Amino acid sequence: MNIEVQIARSRPEDGGAAYRQVYHVPVPDGAGWTAMDLLDYIQRRLDGSLGYFRHSACGRGLCRRCAARINGNVGYLCAHIVEDERPLVLEPISESRRIRDLVCR
Ligand code: FES
Repeated sequence: MNIEVQIARSRPEDGGAAYRQVYHVPVPDGAGWTAMDLLDYIQRRLDGSLGYFRHSACGRGLCRRCAARINGNVGYLCAHIVEDERPLVLEPISESRRIRDLVCR
């Protein structure tokens, strides 16, 4: 399946104006990808400038550092299994605590 991912982006160092960027990610059927897997794909293959938190020793919803708004609901990027959401909208958990893109204090 091909997932459209819309990500709320902002770079305070560039003036901070927020905008939504759209990516298309091919996800193998039955792969069980998480929202974090989509972000990894985007960062490695489509846009290395994307900012998000990744804890390589966690990845199981334990550390809570990857919290974000996923289709408007608070959740953990590493624990949210991607189904047939079209599009998948990812936003920071707090605009006021945003450092960059999906990374918050
Ligand atoms: S990386 Fe720890 S909760 Fe997601």
